[in-house]
Amino acid sequence: MKKIILTGDRPTGRLHVGHYVGSLRRRVELQNSGEYDEIHIMIADAQALTDNADNPEKVKSNISEVALDYLSCGIDPEKSNILVQSYISELTELTFYYSNLVTVSRLQRNPTVKAEIQMRGFNTSIPVGFFTYPISQAADITAFKATTVPVGEDQLPMLEQAREIVRSFNSTYDEVLVEPKALLPENEVCSRLPGVDGKAKMSKSLGNAIYLADDPEDIRKKVMSMFTDPNHIRVEDPGSLEGNTVFTYLDAFCKDDMFAEHLPEYQNLQEMKDHYTRGGLGDVKVKKFLYEVLMEELSPIQAKRKELEKDVPAVMEILRKGSMEAREIAANTLDEVKTAMKINYWSA
Ligand code: TRP
Repeated sequence: MKKIILTGDRPTGRLHVGHYVGSLRRRVELQNSGEYDEIHIMIADAQALTDNADNPEKVKSNISEVALDYLSCGIDPEKSNILVQSYISELTELTFYYSNLVTVSRLQRNPTVKAEIQMRGFNTSIPVGFFTYPISQAADITAFKATTVPVGEDQLPMLEQAREIVRSFNSTYDEVLVEPKALLPENEVCSRLPGVDGKAKMSKSLGNAIYLADDPEDIRKKVMSMFTDPNHIRVEDPGSLEGNTVFTYLDAFCKDDMFAEHLPEYQNLQEMKDHYTRGGLGDVKVKKFLYEVLMEELSPIQAKRKELEKDVPAVMEILRKGSMEAREIAANTLDEVKTAMKINYWSA
């Protein structure tokens, strides 16, 4: 069986370092591993509209932003197909048919949907489109017969829902769809990088995110303002690593060979952590090092983004081509689905 990846993001803002360590970096590795027959990366604009229906301008403007972030991080359109969800109308058709296989109570129990309803304050006025987006996400995944879906932990309930739909479809009609597997980030730190204020979620509204395209000066300011150990007052005091955002970021970004250039008094991160917990290492010094570490990874990405930004129409053309290719694949699956459902009256 072919190994096929499908994954995606909602275009509601530029991507930040949390997206980078949690998914982008991994996608590039998967892409370059050569282990997959097809890779599709979806800019899920239709899904973004399920809770931004009144703000189409925001969704529109972020399509090229997200594409620029992908390409500057090393997603190569020759190897990975980047597509825009709304272009592929077959996905909405699949969603409609799959809806018959899902109950309202099953959607109500979906933990991600539950949490998002709370977070967005929908209370009892939940838009139907939003409520049913797990079904549409199952369509995204199954249209490409994806075997592997690299996602963060928060998306596991979506994957479970998709798998249930696949099983239900295949047993009710015919073995057409493929059950996907989630591929989680390798480690805990990378799967949920906190905001610079130490809060669990990095978000635009909280103003606590470091964006890939942030100006280096802004990144420096954000790093210098980062939450550390509030009881670590004097340099001599022993510091705690628990919930210490600066060290969480170092865990996600620092490679031991970075010490030689930026902070040769330590050989590796463990030595630095030991010094911090013993006392005698100040926050400012750790933060300055973190800034260097971050910039070592982000500088090449930012340089590439600057180049790509000079020709946004070329980026949009990559998306158009990718979407056309994706549409053919989805149309094939839709044909098979309709045949299995016996609604292909006029085809052979
Ligand atoms: N729900 C995902 C998010 O909010 C985006 C997404 C849409 C997605 N369709 C997908 C992810 C299909 C994986 C597979 O980030």
